[in-house]
Amino acid sequence: MPHTIVIFGASGDLTSRKLVPALYNLKRAGSLPADTRVVGYSRTPMTDQQWRASLRETTAKHAEGEPFNAAAWDAFASSIHYQPGDIGDAAEMAGLKARLEQLEGSAAATRVYYLATAPQFYAPAVSALGDLGMAEESAGPRRIVVEKPFGTDLVTAQALNEHLHTVFKESQIYRIDHYLGKESVQNIIALRFANTIFEPIWNRRYIDHVQITVAEEVPVGRRGNYYDTAGVLRDMFQNHLLQLLMVTAMEAPVRFRANAVRNEKVIVLEAIRPLEVAEVAAAGTRGQYRGYLAEPGVAPASRTATFGAIRLEIDNWRWQGVPFYLRSGKCMSCRTTQIVIAFREPPLELFADGPRAHREANRLVIQIQPAEGIQMHFHTKVPGGGMRLRLTDLEFSYSREFEGRLPEAYEPLLLDVMLGEASLFARADEVEKSWEIIDPFVKSWAATDMPASDIYEAGHWGPATSDAWIAAQGRTWFDTCPVLK
Ligand code: BG6
Repeated sequence: MPHTIVIFGASGDLTSRKLVPALYNLKRAGSLPADTRVVGYSRTPMTDQQWRASLRETTAKHAEGEPFNAAAWDAFASSIHYQPGDIGDAAEMAGLKARLEQLEGSAAATRVYYLATAPQFYAPAVSALGDLGMAEESAGPRRIVVEKPFGTDLVTAQALNEHLHTVFKESQIYRIDHYLGKESVQNIIALRFANTIFEPIWNRRYIDHVQITVAEEVPVGRRGNYYDTAGVLRDMFQNHLLQLLMVTAMEAPVRFRANAVRNEKVIVLEAIRPLEVAEVAAAGTRGQYRGYLAEPGVAPASRTATFGAIRLEIDNWRWQGVPFYLRSGKCMSCRTTQIVIAFREPPLELFADGPRAHREANRLVIQIQPAEGIQMHFHTKVPGGGMRLRLTDLEFSYSREFEGRLPEAYEPLLLDVMLGEASLFARADEVEKSWEIIDPFVKSWAATDMPASDIYEAGHWGPATSDAWIAAQGRTWFDTCPVLK
C-alpha cells in the first residue's frame, strides 16, 4: 500500500534538519517503502519545485553519514510535494485534503500526519483533521505523530490527550521521543532481554545505584524563547531521561509487542515513589550556566534551570532502595549520554593493606552517544609482586563491531510509524505518568530563588552544589567524558 507522509510545519527547522534528511537516508538505503510520498503543509507560499530546492540544500547539510548522493536525492525529490496553507483556515485545510486525494487517486494509502509545528498548533490541527473526516480509515490507515513537548504539565498533557482522542483512537496516535529511536537505547532492551547473564544481577541485591546522565556541551542558543519557559526538567527529564529510566528498570515484557512493552514501562512509572512538593527540595538539585541570562529570548532575571539532577526511588521488589539519579544540563563539560549501573562493593575487602581502602566498585557503562557501546569496569591484579589492583574494562563498541553508519534516531521511528509499529512511542498513560513525576520538581524549583551557588561555569559538570548533594548521599558522579570514542 502506498504511504503519504503529511508534514504540518513544513517550513520549520525540525522538517529540514531531521525529518526530510531521515526520509532521504531511508530512501538512499533502500528502506523507504516504495510509493512513499511526502506532502508539506505550512503558511509560507512555495511551489513543489521551490520546496524541493530548499530541502535539497538543507538535506545536503544535515543528512549525516555518507556524502550527499545527488542521484538518490533526485529519485526521492520527485515524490515531495508542497501545499501552502494555514492550519486554522478551514478552506485551506480542505485544499490540503483535495490535494492529498488527487495525489493518492482512488487507491488506498496509509497516511501519516506529522505535527512538526509549534505546540500551540497541535490542537487546531487535530480539530481540523477531525472536521474534515481525515482521521477516518475507510481509504487506508490514518496515523498522527505528535512531537514533544507533549503538554507543559500533567493538566495540559491530559487536555491534549483528551482532545486527540476526540478525533483519533489511541492506536492511531504516535507520541514521539527521539531518544527511543537511538540504536543504543534499543540495545538496552536487547542487552537485558536477549541475554541471561545480566538478569540475575540486575536488581537491588547487586546494584547500589544507577546514574543516567545526558550532558550537552552546547548552550541554549537560538531557542531561548522556548527554553526559558521549559527549563531542563520539561525539556529533557519528562521525556528522554524518564524513557531511559524505563528501559533500564522495566521487567521483561511477555512478548515484544507495542502494548506489552508499554505496559511494563508504565508499571515502572507507577512504582516511582510519589513526592510531595515539600520533599522535592532534598530529592534534587539544579543550576544555571553563567551567561544564560544574556541569551536572546531569556528573561533578564530568569530562574530557569539549565542543569538539573534528581533522585527517584522505585518501590518494587527489584529496585527498592536503589536510587536512580537522573542528570542533564546544557553547557556541560562534554556531550555524552550514559547510563551507569553502579554495583555494590564486595562484602569483604581482602586486598587492602591497612584499614579498608575505598575502591571503586564495578560499573557497567552504557554509552548512548556520541559513540555507542558498553563498558564493563572491574578490578584486575597489576602484574608483579603483591596484590595491587587496578580498575580495567571490557568494551563493546558499535563502530568497531558493525560496519557502516548507524541510523539517525528519526529513521527507525519514521519507518515504524509507516509500518504501524508503536513499541517505541509513548502511550497516553505513559506521558501523563511522566508529568506526574516531574511536575512537583517543576513547581518546587519555580517557587524558589536561584542562589549564586547554583550558577555554574560553562564546561563544568553543573554547579558544585550538585557534587555536594550526591556526596551527602555517599556517592559520587561518574564525571567522565565519553568512555568510548
Ligand atoms: C531535544 C531538546 O528534545 O533533545 C534539546 O529539546 C536537546 O534541548 C535535544 O538539545 C538533545 O537531543 P540529542 O539527540 O542531541 O541528545
